[in-house]
Amino acid sequence: MDVIVQAPALGASKVEIYQQLKRDVLAVLEGEPDRVAQMATIVCLCVQAFPGWFWTGFYIVDTVKAAAGIKELVVGPYNGTLGCLRIAFGRGVCGAAAETRTTQVVPDVHAFPGHIACDSRSNSEIVVPVLDAKGDVIAVFDVDSEQFGTFDEADRQGLEAIMQAVFAA
Ligand code: SME
Repeated sequence: MDVIVQAPALGASKVEIYQQLKRDVLAVLEGEPDRVAQMATIVCLCVQAFPGWFWTGFYIVDTVKAAAGIKELVVGPYNGTLGCLRIAFGRGVCGAAAETRTTQVVPDVHAFPGHIACDSRSNSEIVVPVLDAKGDVIAVFDVDSEQFGTFDEADRQGLEAIMQAVFAA
């Protein structure tokens, strides 16, 4: 593979880091259709770009349960401490993102009704729904931080752009 993944430049803004991250993700994944490979690569490159992220990973829609009418997420590729295995649609921040198909930016997870504390060190969180080309929710991408108020509009836009480019293109 002839791709050089660059460390973010010292002093780069969050927007610039996301622009480079998206270029790196697309370069590494060019021609790779496997979703596990795509998700694992995104997690790896995100954590290299943002070393402070505490938990970074995917919860994937369980298609077997979906066929039986049960809407549930099951943990996918991630980096961090042990994550919960399964989350029902509508439960916690991940379940809210999956149910509403809307990115959840949560500055204080303790104030979020129904937040699921997989690790008590998590204090803020962003969860982005992952849609396929048909517009179906196939997963959510979840990032947790030990600091309060870590995530903002730049994170929402940056992460939504990456998910769109990889999974909905
Ligand atoms: N906090 C999440 C659960 C997933 S973990 O944090 C890894 C939530 O409420 O959806």
